[in-house]
Amino acid sequence: MTGLMKKRTNTAQVSKYAEAEFSDDNEIEIEVKDLGVTFHDNSGNEVQALTGINLEIKKGEFISLVGPSGCGKTTLLRTIADLQEPTDGSIHVAGRLPREERMMQKFGIVFQQPVLFDWRTVQKNVELPLELMYYSKKDRRDRAKEMLEMVGLSDFADSYPSQLSGGMQQRVNIARAFAIRPEILLMDEPFSALDEFTKEKLHEDLLRMWRQTNKTVLFVTHNIQEAVFLSDRICVLSPHPGRLSAIVDVDLPRPRSTEMKFTPEFNALVEKVRNSFEGGSI
Ligand SMILES: Nc1ncnc2c1ncn2[C@@H]1O[C@H](COP(=O)(O)OP(=O)(O)OP(=O)(O)O)[C@@H](O)[C@H]1O
Ligand SMILES: [Mg+2]
Repeated sequence: MTGLMKKRTNTAQVSKYAEAEFSDDNEIEIEVKDLGVTFHDNSGNEVQALTGINLEIKKGEFISLVGPSGCGKTTLLRTIADLQEPTDGSIHVAGRLPREERMMQKFGIVFQQPVLFDWRTVQKNVELPLELMYYSKKDRRDRAKEMLEMVGLSDFADSYPSQLSGGMQQRVNIARAFAIRPEILLMDEPFSALDEFTKEKLHEDLLRMWRQTNKTVLFVTHNIQEAVFLSDRICVLSPHPGRLSAIVDVDLPRPRSTEMKFTPEFNALVEKVRNSFEGGSI
């Protein structure tokens, strides 16, 4: 049984927040073909951020991108989200161009630092993208409430971001990303600034929300343990130029709990990912 199938079994039991149809295991959500992205630095020299990337991500999969600084993780995420143009190759999302998907608000994006507006309450921060999508006042209030409940912050709806801890702010950020009902969640090192305890809690929360809503998740991290704990598959990128050096299947059962991080199976997968990085450890 694949990790994906195990996840679906769990999802069937928790339907309160379910938003996406469960699809057959082979439905491709993101298809990256021979992708290359080249930048020019200030002296006009070419920097090949990505080259020859081929990747197929199935609907509902949880995929992590790991690799050392500068190997092109953020660039890959940004190119999929249509925030960066490919230089070579192509990307299709649900069979369409990333631009079309972006226009249809299919991407929820979470960056490392929560981008919250200090003068808006927590509730109003979560409502913001819904305002931009012309949701009615009642609909956006209801949706924001539902999302704050999902991330465990109902009691802080009327607080301001500066009154929250870093971990709570990141929860608001995640609630806001989920609020627009994106098909795909793109997360760029969302937990790297947090302490271990908060991170562990958010890992479990994120997996619960993912199971409940059946999103496709692309998660960038430097942290191999984090990638193994969360993912169905891990894409290992190597730098100079950024390329995909391995894809590691994570066949740990779901639901996952923090205790699993101490099992031999877990540590064997961490080792496998570490060894598949070309040119040393991450
Ligand atoms: N806008 C840009 N202009 C020029 N070069 C860029 C630009 N964005 C990224 N690069 C270069 O592309 C390469 C990949 O950068 P990217 O930010 O994707 O790496 P990363 O894997 O996300 O690194 P980190 O782990 O440090 O976040 C780097 O060499 C970087 O200097
Ligand atoms: Mg980055």
